[in-house]
Amino acid sequence: NTLRVKKYGGRFWPDFPSESIIGVESLLAREDDVILVSYPKSGSHWVWEIICFLMAGTTEIVVADKEVGMIGLVRPELLEAQPSPRILNTHAHFELMPRDVFNKKTCKLIYVTRDPRDVAVSYYNNHKKLVQYYSYTGHWKDYLTLYLNGQVDYESWFAYTRGWEQGIRDNPDLLVHVTSYEALHYDITGEIYRLAKFLGVEVDAPLVEQIVSETSFATMRQTKGAREIFGGVRPSSPVMYRKGKVGDWKNWFTVAQSEQFNAVFDQEMAGTKAFELYSHSK
Ligand code: A3P
Repeated sequence: NTLRVKKYGGRFWPDFPSESIIGVESLLAREDDVILVSYPKSGSHWVWEIICFLMAGTTEIVVADKEVGMIGLVRPELLEAQPSPRILNTHAHFELMPRDVFNKKTCKLIYVTRDPRDVAVSYYNNHKKLVQYYSYTGHWKDYLTLYLNGQVDYESWFAYTRGWEQGIRDNPDLLVHVTSYEALHYDITGEIYRLAKFLGVEVDAPLVEQIVSETSFATMRQTKGAREIFGGVRPSSPVMYRKGKVGDWKNWFTVAQSEQFNAVFDQEMAGTKAFELYSHSK
């Protein structure tokens, strides 16, 4: 059982309109762009909300949906028309990023990773729920193989993660803040201070506390989750705000699936930073 993706330039994207995907690599960057980059299901809606509050310097705003600033979903000319400072986001692999981001040198990138096992479970639930986009009617027992083979939109987590690690290593001038779903989960306050410092914005303790509260899983599920609409349909339960936990994979993976995952992980990720972070032998 496969799921529907858009094939463009030999790569797998979600089934977005072609005119939003074509031209991504040649999108013009600006010196003050802030760009959130992550493989899907790594907590990008969460970090988007935090970044938007930090950039605004207040939580007294309604943050625009992440989709409004998404490279690959919004047509490049519409992104180019957005006022500065732009806050953008994308799941594009490193080599598919707008090249101009690397010419500008002062764009700020925030790169978020997550345990690939939790990503798999989260992505499975996402693909099942958004059946109108993915036409996916398979089951978890078969899904893991699709995911490990990169037969999903944005392809392989392993290739994505290796590509970004190498891209960051090869471009030492790039301004990148690297964080993870787990780091945010275990020390949200510390991560918000670190993000603020990276973005060059002043914060005080009350503002950080407000951001922690406004971006908690419970709050976002209640506010943003309740407003979700996909293809004109309101889902029966929030799609982007499912469980919000670290280690939910343990409730899903069978022993055989863990072994299957571990073998691929070891082969694909040996020698990487992600291997150190997420090695199953730890
Ligand atoms: P789960 O499916 O494991 O619950 P993305 O935003 O990149 O699509 O990632 C979605 C994942 O982030 C989902 O994981 C979702 O529940 C989780 N998430 C969304 N908002 C969150 C928040 N405020 N705090 C913690 N996790 C959050």
